[in-house]
Amino acid sequence: DDRDPSLPRFRLKDIRQHDAASGKPWVTYEDKVYDITDWIAAHPGGDVILRAAGASIEPYWNIFSIHKSTHVREILDQYLIGLIDVADLVNGRPAAEQIEDPFKEDPVRDSRLITHTVKPRNAEPPNEELDREFQTPNGLFYVRNHMWVPVIEESKSYDHGLTIELPDGETRTYTLAELKERFPTHKVTAVLQCSGNRRNDMTRHAGKTNGLQWGVGAISNAEWEGVRLADVLADAGLKVADATSTTRSLVTDDPDPNSLHVQLTGLEAYGSSIPLSKALDPSGDVLLAFGMNGQTLPRDHGYPLRAVVPGTVAARSVKWLSKIVVSDEESPSQWQRRDYKSFGPNEGSNPDWDRAVSIQEMPVTSAITGVWVGDCVRKGRVAWLSGARSQHGGGKQDGGVVDLGAAERKVGFTPQDRVKHTEGEAPHNTKETSTEPVAVQGYAYSGGGRGIARVDISLDGGKTWDQAELLDDCSKPGACFGNKKWTWRRWRYLGQLPGLSLPASSSDTTDEDCESTISNNRKDIKIKKHCTTLVVKATDDAYNAQPESHAAIFNARGNLATAWHRVRICPKCTTNSDGKGVVWSTGETYGCGFKKEAEAVRD
Ligand code: MTE
Repeated sequence: DDRDPSLPRFRLKDIRQHDAASGKPWVTYEDKVYDITDWIAAHPGGDVILRAAGASIEPYWNIFSIHKSTHVREILDQYLIGLIDVADLVNGRPAAEQIEDPFKEDPVRDSRLITHTVKPRNAEPPNEELDREFQTPNGLFYVRNHMWVPVIEESKSYDHGLTIELPDGETRTYTLAELKERFPTHKVTAVLQCSGNRRNDMTRHAGKTNGLQWGVGAISNAEWEGVRLADVLADAGLKVADATSTTRSLVTDDPDPNSLHVQLTGLEAYGSSIPLSKALDPSGDVLLAFGMNGQTLPRDHGYPLRAVVPGTVAARSVKWLSKIVVSDEESPSQWQRRDYKSFGPNEGSNPDWDRAVSIQEMPVTSAITGVWVGDCVRKGRVAWLSGARSQHGGGKQDGGVVDLGAAERKVGFTPQDRVKHTEGEAPHNTKETSTEPVAVQGYAYSGGGRGIARVDISLDGGKTWDQAELLDDCSKPGACFGNKKWTWRRWRYLGQLPGLSLPASSSDTTDEDCESTISNNRKDIKIKKHCTTLVVKATDDAYNAQPESHAAIFNARGNLATAWHRVRICPKCTTNSDGKGVVWSTGETYGCGFKKEAEAVRD
């Protein structure tokens, strides 16, 4: 042992005695031992550091990027008291099995989720499951965890405490049992969407972004059940000036609700905040939720209690909620101050975090989640077309081929004259044009309770537009709860791809372009087929629309990637007994059920 002889040596079994309950907590890092007793009060992450007490701090240290800076390591070094005894070291460090895995109690997850990181768990539903139903099933709801999932035994969940601290420093603690007994229960149907949703789109179209490369699935919709935050704050004794007084020049001693924030903290130390005005807005529908889609809140989604802040970036819907502070400042947490903000394209990778405003209400967005072309449509692989068929009294013709004529009346089939080429483009002879049916589906959503007014679809990269049919998922009584439009709007579109006259601009042609031979008046005509780009964009009921390009809204953090969603589809050329041909229908074709996109995300 040629390490510093002036430092005492400690055995791991003795270090273990210095756990969170010991009153003198120690941690280890590599082969060093630290007494962190005096650090706890000053630790920016609060007493979460005690989770590591009596053992190695490394698994926790590595979760938080802030620890990577040398000055943080220097702080730890101030508490150095000795070294781990050489008898407990393997290659200079404690053996791997001696290091606790903070994630070992994490729940088992649905295997269909596409995992971005395992520890902590971050995963999104595959496109084919994402908006299959209006309410995302609990097991498929996207998961965004910064740390481990706290363990609350079922038998103890009713004793779970929520402490509320008011601006005057007064505190009041409620158990979950008390919240359920004393306050009326409310339901709210609301989307949660991460500000990183569609980040990989921004990366692909505009440049490298930092953060998890979410596809289109960092968004899900559920029916939440809980008590209203406003009711609980009032019960706890929060007194603020009536908001109307601020426009009537009345002088009051009570604080202005528009200048206060509600800081929300979870059991594992995650925290963020919302403006108090959102929490108190009678139509704001902010819940302290314990139920999700008619079931107990699952562990991954905040069991036993989480905040649900509809219309607001999901980073504010704090899970495993244990503390609320009403303050004149936003949450001091890194997730309020050093993340979940967006920047100008000029700001680069080292933006001015303090100057940027925190993301709260979400902007309008939309995405394509499924595309079927040609035989995929004709042969009934589009579930919602089969639904349309049965409502029209059958429609299945000749050995399982879908009657698209019947579907036309249901979902707004693009009229043939809408597929025409605009002036200046290649001459278009309808007799020589074979079209391919294309079915597209997806979701649209806007924050702040704004509804979706319209979803526009283009089959030619944005040159010409049509409109999708918006589903009325909330039309049945009791289908949706809430004072504003907090849910997503699912949409469907059935149109005609002008198969033989797809746009031939240089950016839209690839090696995959191919020729197709058709017979016209006994003459064989060779016509080139090309890839095309499907585009969707939504407009909300305040007439906010999505930006055209990610380049215009590029920020190195990759937040709020809301540009038009583009999906390129290419015909696949084959050589078969009939010579050169084109297949859209094999399932290998990009977009046939949209499988390839999901695989790209998984990679
Ligand atoms: N709350 C806690 N306690 N810990 C977290 O890591 N992640 C936040 C938010 N609340 C988080 C949290 C973020 S960034 C998002 S997008 C949502 O939870 C995700 O909620 P979900 O996992 O239920 O989909």
